[in-house]
Amino acid sequence: MKIGIIGGSGLYKIENIEIIEEINLITPYGSPSDSYLHARYKNFEIYFLPRHGRKHSFLPHEVNYKANIYGFKLLDIERIIGISAVGGITKKPGDLVLTSDFIDLSGRINTFYNDKVVHIDVSEPFCPILREAILESSKNLNIEIYEFGVYAQMQGPRLETPAEIRMLKILGADVVGMTLVSEAILSRELEICYAGINVVTNYAAGIKEKKLTTTEVIENMNRNLEKVKKILFNAIEKIPTQRNCPCSVALKETGM
Ligand code: HPA
Repeated sequence: MKIGIIGGSGLYKIENIEIIEEINLITPYGSPSDSYLHARYKNFEIYFLPRHGRKHSFLPHEVNYKANIYGFKLLDIERIIGISAVGGITKKPGDLVLTSDFIDLSGRINTFYNDKVVHIDVSEPFCPILREAILESSKNLNIEIYEFGVYAQMQGPRLETPAEIRMLKILGADVVGMTLVSEAILSRELEICYAGINVVTNYAAGIKEKKLTTTEVIENMNRNLEKVKKILFNAIEKIPTQRNCPCSVALKETGM
């Protein structure tokens, strides 16, 4: 089985797995953020892409999300797990959150279908089967992860104001970030399963009287990376071979 992994800030490579090759792709939508690292883990073929590039060259608004996701499609990947650093609104630094829903305030147009009428259904925005595998593995490993969490996507690259965070809290957001929603939507548009593990790296703006820094985000991500990797590799083994989820038939009855 092939699994795609997208790493966020602080997760630029995955150690301790056998790397087979680096795959450079050019898609009809342009170049992905970096080459895809093809690695083998047990019977699984892993394809890892650092969202911002290995050298963190692309800010959230500069990432070519379409190329990144389409690249996975070209590699025949049907399942992607995205790892993201997020600010905590109802959650605290160090918490892990398995995103269950989102609010998209990024203003980005996330679609592959500019010349066709396709309205993708996102009433269940993340793959329930991938989510189940992640939850089960975190339970087995005794690593706490919040089962539900609403991710608010902002455009970036600046961080939010305290008033924006108060607004997001009223709207029901638990965490805030700049990237994951674009990936989830575009994956669904290509009938690829997607689930997101969020690492809360900082309190969102205004929650504590403290300036937010990128150093804090990276340091907290690094501190929690081992937990995330454990869950990730355990979860991979729990993913059923057959796809039986809404994502696999997402284009049915959409007008495609
Ligand atoms: N806001 C937006 N994106 C983020 C944050 C934040 O506070 N922390 C990590 N990514």
